[in-house]
Amino acid sequence: QTKRTTPTQIEAMKGTRPIVSLTAYTTPIARLLDPHCDLLLVGDSLGMVLYGMETTVGVTLEMMIAHGQGVMRGAQKACVIVDLPFGSYQESKEQAFRNSARILKETGCNGVKLEGGEEMAETVAFLTSRGVPVFGHVGLMPQKVNTSGGYRSLGRSDEEADKIRRDAKVIAQAGAFALLVEGTVEPLAREITASIDIPTVGIGASPACDGQILVSDDMFGLFSDFKPRFVKHFAELAPTISKAAEAYAEEVKARTFPGPEHTFQVKK
Ligand code: KIV
Ligand code: NA
Repeated sequence: QTKRTTPTQIEAMKGTRPIVSLTAYTTPIARLLDPHCDLLLVGDSLGMVLYGMETTVGVTLEMMIAHGQGVMRGAQKACVIVDLPFGSYQESKEQAFRNSARILKETGCNGVKLEGGEEMAETVAFLTSRGVPVFGHVGLMPQKVNTSGGYRSLGRSDEEADKIRRDAKVIAQAGAFALLVEGTVEPLAREITASIDIPTVGIGASPACDGQILVSDDMFGLFSDFKPRFVKHFAELAPTISKAAEAYAEEVKARTFPGPEHTFQVKK
C-alpha cells in the first residue's frame, strides 16, 4: 500500500509542476485513474453524469457519501476530495462542519470541496481550523445555477472580475489548501493564480492555473451530443460502447453468443 497524497502535499505542489486531477465516481474508474492523478474529485457533477439530473442541485449527501466510499475503495495514492452537495453547508458553518465530518468519517477521504467566495469565507475558516481540509471553488458555481442565470464563462467585465478576484483571495486566506477556478477568462485566471499562495486548479480556466481538472466522462468522450469549448475528448468511448451493444444484440439474435467456450457442460 503506497501512501495517499495529502491536501498539504497538493498545496506544496504550487510552483513545482502542474497538478493533475479528474473526477471519479466509482471504484473501477478510480482504480484506472489513480496511478495518473494527484487528486481525484468525487464531484457533485455525478448527479448529471451518472443520474441524468439537469443540474447538481438535487444531489444529496447520501449520494456523495456512497460514491465517496466507492472511490476510496479504488484509489490508492491520489488525494480524494468529496464535494459538499447543495444544501449541506450553506445554512451555517456548524451545518457545514457536521456534514463535512460525516463525509470524512464515513468515506475516509482527504477533504471536502465547497462552492463560494466571500459568503463562505467564515465557513472555510471554521472548517479548516477544526481539522477539515477544504478545496475552494470560485468562478462559475454550478450549485448557484438558479440565481446566477445559467452556465457561461465569467470575468470579462471589471465588476465580474473584481468579484471573482475577491472571492479567490478570501477563500485562500481562510485556509483552503487549493482553489478550483471554473469557467473563467484567461487573464483573470492568470492573475488569481499569481496573487494567491495556494494552487489554482482550473476547468475552463486556461492553462495559466497551477493544475487542471476535467469531468472524466467528458474527456472519455462518453457524451457525443454536446462538447463545451473547455472539454477535450482524450478518447471516444461513446461509439465504442454503442458498437459493443450492437454486436452483442446481433450475436444474441443470431444465437452465435454464447458460444461453446462460454457454456457450462456436464462431463460424461
Ligand atoms: O462536480 C464537479 O465535477 C466539479 C467540477 C468543476 C470538476 O466540481
Ligand atoms: Na462540483
